[in-house]
Amino acid sequence: MHPSRRPLIAGNWKMFHGGRSSVELASGVVAFARELPSVDVVVAPPFTALAAIAETLDGSKVGLAAQNLYPKDTGAFTGEISAPFLKECGCAWAIVGHSERRQVFGETDAFVAEKTAAALASDLVPIVCVGETLAQREAGETLRIVKAQVDAVLDVIARASTAVAVAYEPVWAIGTGKTAGPAEAEEVHAAIRSWLERKDPALAARTRILYGGSVKADNAASLLACPNVDGALVGGASLDPGSFGAIARATKG
Ligand code: 13P
Repeated sequence: MHPSRRPLIAGNWKMFHGGRSSVELASGVVAFARELPSVDVVVAPPFTALAAIAETLDGSKVGLAAQNLYPKDTGAFTGEISAPFLKECGCAWAIVGHSERRQVFGETDAFVAEKTAAALASDLVPIVCVGETLAQREAGETLRIVKAQVDAVLDVIARASTAVAVAYEPVWAIGTGKTAGPAEAEEVHAAIRSWLERKDPALAARTRILYGGSVKADNAASLLACPNVDGALVGGASLDPGSFGAIARATKG
């Protein structure tokens, strides 16, 4: 397997722990990550905590991710944060196209592609999120929807010299306690890999495809054992170093 597909466990802290408590959480992550040399661990705190957490992570193997970015470098965009600012702040990664951004803030596939390009232009590794809603799954549209989301970023990620990550996060599994079963997850992950392969076999070989959606300590091992699942994007269970560490230890790494 391509070395860039080593296991990656990323914690999306969403709009939780924006201040001192996030620094404590980051310290807990640094402690468990030290014991896992073959697993890449990343945390995505709210913007307000990034600078403080960059200091906490300094010298550790834990990477810092932004949860979002705006795809212009500077300008009159009140309330927005650019990729160069995030890079300067210590980020090496950026989540783009999370389903909460798509659903609550109306982000389109085209906008997600712009953000992916902006992240790469500032040397941030994008974690591009894709996934279908419950209604789309029940209508048998899962692969069509996910393919459209992947297609929107395909040219951008194929051109990149950086190995990006794609996170398959079925919307119906996020924060609901329902996960895709390993077979359901693997079906979509294998399909994503095949679309990347069709574009460029080297792209398929180097891209990590993460699963996200109610990943917990007790279901992580079976999901992470799937051949095309290269890691996890974890929400709720990443807010506690105990459960987040247990998920990281469940990797194949
Ligand atoms: P939960 O793990 O809380 O379901 O969240 C998943 C997610 O949205 C990660 O980005």
